Amino acid sequence: MPEKYILALDQGTTSSRAILFDRNGQISQLAQKEFPQYYPQSGWVEHDPEEIWATQFSVMAECLAKSGLTTNEIAALGITNQRETTIVWEKSSSRPIYRAIVWQDRRTSAYCDQLKAEGWSARIQEKTGLIIDAYFSATKLKWILDNVSGAREQAVKGELAFGTVDTWLSWKLTNGKVHVTDLSNASRTMLLNIHTGEWDEELLKLFDIPASMLPELIPSSKVYAVTESIVKTANIPMAGIAGDQQAALFGQQCINPGMVKNTYGTGCFMLMNTGEQPVMSRNNLLSTIAWKLNNRITYAMEGSIFIGGAVVQWLRDGLQMIRKSSEIETLAASVSTTENVFMVPAFAGLGAPHWNQHARGTCFGITRGTTKAHLARAALESIAFQVMDVLKAMEADAGLPISELRVDGGATTNNLLMQIQSNVLQVPVVRPTVYETTALGAAYLAGLGVGYWEDVHVIQQQWQADQHFYPSCAASEIAPLIRGWKRAVNASIAWAN
Ligand code: G3P
Repeated sequence: MPEKYILALDQGTTSSRAILFDRNGQISQLAQKEFPQYYPQSGWVEHDPEEIWATQFSVMAECLAKSGLTTNEIAALGITNQRETTIVWEKSSSRPIYRAIVWQDRRTSAYCDQLKAEGWSARIQEKTGLIIDAYFSATKLKWILDNVSGAREQAVKGELAFGTVDTWLSWKLTNGKVHVTDLSNASRTMLLNIHTGEWDEELLKLFDIPASMLPELIPSSKVYAVTESIVKTANIPMAGIAGDQQAALFGQQCINPGMVKNTYGTGCFMLMNTGEQPVMSRNNLLSTIAWKLNNRITYAMEGSIFIGGAVVQWLRDGLQMIRKSSEIETLAASVSTTENVFMVPAFAGLGAPHWNQHARGTCFGITRGTTKAHLARAALESIAFQVMDVLKAMEADAGLPISELRVDGGATTNNLLMQIQSNVLQVPVVRPTVYETTALGAAYLAGLGVGYWEDVHVIQQQWQADQHFYPSCAASEIAPLIRGWKRAVNASIAWAN
């Protein structure tokens, strides 16, 4: 019997990836492609759903071709994806009726303010675990129905399908045979009651969403379809779906209550496993569904930071200060401090724990002596400070200190950032050997779904630390920097108000 592999599709905000994992949870093959971002107006962010699909399909085919494997050697396929991003398409033609409205898009901020003014905050948080914000899918979906000509009429007639990216990819991979989403993705729409695990009728009414548009809710780990005959990729069991941050929590093997991970992607997302009960935050964090596995829902508490690695991309593409993202490490390391320069990358407002939709990016403390090296270092520090704000909120909610932080995502290869992070938090930061934990989590869920791995205890043995970063300076040296950061954040919020 030839050895089999698991194929994970990781559809992120800026690139689509396909990764093959072996039975030891090691990467055997990988392909990746970036795709265009569209910014039609200030604060708007869109993707072309066909480009999402085309890049995702091409990396999947490339990954299989490079591996030389046939589809018989793929035990299962798992999907993980940028969450909240909203797509609406015609069921009959599979044609999207509008571009995907990306999670970072702020066009519905004013409507969200209105909902808050009408007193919906507590009710929505109680049901969905979420804080009212343009971040989530519900208001984006309502915007499409209200603004795309003929959309509402078609939706009422049952002709349109709504989905997050997992739904769209599942639809495309099965030629429209399945219209599904898993509970972890559904919990990011602001339409799901996270206690019952069902779409919520009161919220559908509030946002005026016809139920016929909604995908079927499925567990995160279970065979739900097979891929259709799209060149050389037919008949692979589709057996796992999870939103990318929940998948990373699973990939980091944070499967016991109290375990925490932080992913450094386009944004930064810290999640704590809270077990089989949702814990409502008193410190502006979200409660969300981590996964549904073996008929049991596991919940998580989340701090979402909208701009993490994206600040480095902005220095690269927006300011053209560096040619490759990796260059930031050397540039930032060429100075030992920022000389009191603080950057607040509130390019899409501020997420947890501040939740200010109107805040915008700022930079303070610039003098004639400020160089691009200081700005590069301030950008890295801004990532670390934002993570600190979320970690403090999480500690306050949990009522106990977090003693170490498991990290993953592309930016964790930046040793300087990891060291700054440990200094700012004053706790060890631990990077695993496989830092593609998002894709690994999806692979694990899919593999468990087909019995490729027997149970979670088998995969738990596979997690291995690559490097620990310990604080290299005293808390007293960091304290003035933290004060400067807080002043900068407050000023950025005050300016927005
Ligand atoms: O909630 C948004 C998140 O899922 C995006 O993740 O990895 O594309 O930054 P990423």
